[in-house]
Amino acid sequence: MANNLLKGKNGIIFGALDENSIAWKVAERCHEEGAGVLLSNAPVALRMGKVNDLAQKLGTEVIPADATVMEDLQALFDKAAEKYGKIDFILHSIGMSPNVRKGKEYTGLNHEWYLKTLDISAGSFHKMMQLAYQMDLMNEWGSILGLSYIAAQRSFPKYNDMADAKALLESIARSFGYHFGKKSKVRVNTISQSPTPTTAGTGVKGFDAMLEYGEKTSPLGNASADECADFCVVMFSDLTRKITMQNLFHDGGFSSMGISMELLEGLAGE
Ligand SMILES: NC(=O)c1ccc[n+]([C@@H]2O[C@H](COP(=O)([O-])OP(=O)(O)OC[C@H]3O[C@@H](n4cnc5c(N)ncnc54)[C@H](O)[C@@H]3O)[C@@H](O)[C@H]2O)c1
Repeated sequence: MANNLLKGKNGIIFGALDENSIAWKVAERCHEEGAGVLLSNAPVALRMGKVNDLAQKLGTEVIPADATVMEDLQALFDKAAEKYGKIDFILHSIGMSPNVRKGKEYTGLNHEWYLKTLDISAGSFHKMMQLAYQMDLMNEWGSILGLSYIAAQRSFPKYNDMADAKALLESIARSFGYHFGKKSKVRVNTISQSPTPTTAGTGVKGFDAMLEYGEKTSPLGNASADECADFCVVMFSDLTRKITMQNLFHDGGFSSMGISMELLEGLAGE
């Protein structure tokens, strides 16, 4: 259902790996709504994932960039400036923890990897905003989004050091949101999404159980990647111009629940 909500707007979408990726769905939806989209992902993801197929489908290109490397981001943003002049939106849909990947528990982290988790999953958000700010790359009333998870605010033991990265990500959105708002009326928010079956999601131990727990707890059920893409489109559109420095839960009501009747009755053996 396209409404031309993003007609005349252009943006950069980081993090589409394959068709399950949240960023993949967002790129498709933005394109459907009339936006110009430049795709980016880490060089390794370009070799292993399918993002080139997406670029072909959307009639655009993929510019490789490790989002932790300023020079890579600079080359990407130069390309975006050359293609579009100024841009209207950025999606940061990037997450990776070497500790999660290599099976280290939160109580036995490798602290070098911990810094990498923070840099890849949160520091990169600051890096791209700092560069866009300094280059004056964003149009007035532009919109920048990062994707978060409720483990930033509540304890979910298996989410490991990604919880700390998400807490930092949400804080960066608040801190940079002030400066970007003052400079050029650009809004910065994070969307705290339900568990979603993607490469990054399913890499977290006990993912299937979390998916089921979310489904049984949230009165509206878990939010899908497609539904997240719809929400991102609205947040990039002119319909949300005064929403900034927020962490917005997109989780079917999960974050406001204690326990649902379904889980209670299950535990009580009823
Ligand atoms: N899947 C979930 O359950 C869930 C829930 C809430 C939030 N999120 C967040 O959504 C975002 C997207 O994840 P997803 O679930 O679509 O999984 P995904 O695996 O499809 O996407 C993660 C992306 O991060 C990219 N990436 C990793 N290191 C990078 C680097 N150094 N530079 C540039 N890109 C890099 C990967 O190549 C990949 O494309 C992440 O921030 C994730 O934490 C996911």
